[in-house]
Amino acid sequence: MNKKTYFIRTFGCQMNESDSDMFGAYLEQLGYMPTDNVDEADIVIVNTCSVRQHAEERAFTEIGDLKHYKAKNPAGKVVVVGCMAERMGKELKVKFPHIDLLVGAKSAEQFPEIMKKSGIIADTRDARATTEKIAAPDKPVRNDTKTTDESATTKITTFVTISRGCNNYCSYCVVPYVRGPEEYRPVEEIVEEITKLTANGLKEATLLGQNVNSYRSVMSVIDPASGSYTLKEADFSDLLAEIHKIVGLKRIRYMTNHPKDVSDKFIKTIASLNKVCTHIHLPLQSGSDRVLELMNRKYTFEYYYGLIRKLRYHIADISITTDLMVGFPGETDKDFKATLDAVSKIKFDFAYVFKYSPRENTEAFKLGDTVNKETKEKRHKELLDLCNAVAREKNSKYLGKLAEVLVESRQSDTGEYMGKTKDNRAVVFQSARELLGQSINIKIKEAKVHSLIGENIA
Ligand code: SAH
Ligand code: SF4
Ligand code: F3S
Repeated sequence: MNKKTYFIRTFGCQMNESDSDMFGAYLEQLGYMPTDNVDEADIVIVNTCSVRQHAEERAFTEIGDLKHYKAKNPAGKVVVVGCMAERMGKELKVKFPHIDLLVGAKSAEQFPEIMKKSGIIADTRDARATTEKIAAPDKPVRNDTKTTDESATTKITTFVTISRGCNNYCSYCVVPYVRGPEEYRPVEEIVEEITKLTANGLKEATLLGQNVNSYRSVMSVIDPASGSYTLKEADFSDLLAEIHKIVGLKRIRYMTNHPKDVSDKFIKTIASLNKVCTHIHLPLQSGSDRVLELMNRKYTFEYYYGLIRKLRYHIADISITTDLMVGFPGETDKDFKATLDAVSKIKFDFAYVFKYSPRENTEAFKLGDTVNKETKEKRHKELLDLCNAVAREKNSKYLGKLAEVLVESRQSDTGEYMGKTKDNRAVVFQSARELLGQSINIKIKEAKVHSLIGENIA
């Protein structure tokens, strides 16, 4: 009998990618194989994002197209998961009757039980095996992307969820509503997961949370005098220090950070732990204090700029990337100019630039969508052009130099390898030798906006 297969399409952020990995790992425990060909899949999962209207529209198209899949495969199952499933719930099922099951983002961790209950899968194993956290598979999980052939048995780099949800309620953002309040995984559980994966060849872990700096938990510490365990509060810096001790793990990354929670302790910790990569993603959103206040971001530009100075003082070669938004309700030319000035002053290594998209039920929704489409487009282009020019200029400092990269994937079509520098630059190069998982020096020949092109001279 042919093996059963599943297909997953993921929209949205790294949290969704990580959840998709978790869903895939679970199905693989039951003997399902991943497939790139949706038409041959027994189960099709669409993991959705609600952050902007555009993300939702793309998912609508994808889900709508699955009507043809259902027509060809009446026994096939369509499962829609993630933030849209949470936000829209049954409304989605009314719009697309060919959906067999909805699993909202807040229920991501209950995916096995919900799938089982729905009858879509037959999981006859001991109940304990399926109620165990699937976030911590102790066998290698599937590849991050299907276009690369990272070794099938060893995962070189992986996302590790440390917290779920968000308490910040930035006025424009749907995430706190669709993901719920912050919840933190215990230190021991995270360390155990990474330790197991490292024993299987993992080299790098990216710790994931909507706001990693607000991580809070308790951990047990041994009292050397009595030999007994006591409980101590742990913050993100403590978690990093614990993960840093894992033998064999080479690199630690983390995202995303909220400026209001970036403490001196955190900055000193990342400066002192050499496995922690020299990169921080620190969303600014806007350079205008007036807009930042309306966004409920809880900091001013001056405060943010102070953080940048501190980070660069303690970690000279740190790369700083950001998220920026144009067209927030009421954004004037002057406000927009403040964002352009902020970029010129800070010179981000890379920036994502988004057009404001009104989200129902958020605070900002009440302010209307006052910046017209043309102005949003114009501001988006101007800001993106500036950010990309700065990013290219920043990348060009590598020209002619050697960059140490951890090789994490190989494109199956071109055979090119991709590795990342500690400061999160993607380096693409050719090599006749098998290099996956290795740390090597690559000579940089060309600087692009999103990547560096290099040559293996070893
Ligand atoms: N928790 C993370 C990521 C949130 S979503 C963080 O705070 O960094 C990623 C980015 O999407 C945000 O930083 C913001 O720039 C953008 N974004 C969120 N809601 C948006 C909206 N309604 N319209 C446009 N961009 C939005
Ligand atoms: Fe959204 Fe703000 Fe939370 Fe990020 S910190 S997820 S932008 S509410
Ligand atoms: Fe999108 Fe949900 Fe992430 S709304 S950005 S997939 S948390």
